Amino acid sequence: LEEKGLQEISVANELSKLNEVRVNFLGKKGPITEVLRGMRDLSKEERPKVGEFANKVRDNLTSKLEERKEELAQAALNKKLAEEAVDVTLPGTPMKQGQPHVIQQIIDNLEDLFLGMGYQVVEGPEVELDRYNFEMLNLPKDHPARDMQDTFYITDEVLMRSQTSPVQARTMEKHDFSKGPLKMISPGVVYRRDTDDATHSHQFHQIEGLVIDKNITMGDLKGTLVTLAKELFGDRFEVRLRPSYFPFTEPSVEADVTCFNCMGKGCSVCKSTGWIEVLGAGMVHPNVLKMAGVDTDVYGGFAFGLGPDRFAMLRYGVDDIRNFYLNDVRFLSQFNKRG
Ligand code: PHE
Repeated sequence: LEEKGLQEISVANELSKLNEVRVNFLGKKGPITEVLRGMRDLSKEERPKVGEFANKVRDNLTSKLEERKEELAQAALNKKLAEEAVDVTLPGTPMKQGQPHVIQQIIDNLEDLFLGMGYQVVEGPEVELDRYNFEMLNLPKDHPARDMQDTFYITDEVLMRSQTSPVQARTMEKHDFSKGPLKMISPGVVYRRDTDDATHSHQFHQIEGLVIDKNITMGDLKGTLVTLAKELFGDRFEVRLRPSYFPFTEPSVEADVTCFNCMGKGCSVCKSTGWIEVLGAGMVHPNVLKMAGVDTDVYGGFAFGLGPDRFAMLRYGVDDIRNFYLNDVRFLSQFNKRG
């Protein structure tokens, strides 16, 4: 019986089989229990001998069962470890990584440049008061130049800002000039009632700059714009200023940079002029300064405004502004700086 038990234990290759063997040999209905139960029918002399023998067989089988159980558990664990092993030498699965939108990349680029020159970056509300978007910028209600910026009105006094200039008005109004000059840029989204096509979008971006200090001249403005153009396009690019008109600046200029396509020789992109218009600028109009409470006998300044969308189109040769707002990853991932 003992041998048979040991034999069955050693061939049991699963925990459940092993349990069957235990029940068969050592269980309540098993032969050993039966022998022990039958002891009461034996004589006094036989009892201890039979008992001792039966116990020995039971103990031996029990310990062998435990041993085999350990073995099987260990084998199961080894098998599991082997199956779930990770091969750390395999190349990883590359993860798709996002990146800032191409327009945001240009804004970040310009923010870095101007922060380095001591400007602060200021943001303002996109839903704006008529007062800041127009009136404080020398555009009273009946001013014809309001037509230049066809505006989304929410009420008579509230509108979607059509430019980021209201941020300048808000900041100028608050600025304490006894503590030093004001140098700021304001990047952000602006809205105009344009019909969307390849070169117009009802939503686009602006970055405007404003410097107010003593003794600011047009030369400071030009120097700043040259630095800006070289940063964005490269050292070979030149800047020229042309007279223009904006209600908030006097004199006003428009700035051209060397045509990126023909480098000034003249081509179809620049209509043979060799130049491409990139921004508007000028010396801040005294009315604008006065309305913001700035002492025009002491202070003056310049302002400029440019469109990152247009910059991105020029720099990357994108021929339809709407691409920037469709959020097609195939388009946007072309401008992945991280490669
Ligand atoms: N805010 C002006 C516009 O949208 C741009 C500009 C800003 C022009 C500052 C001159 C000076 O037309």
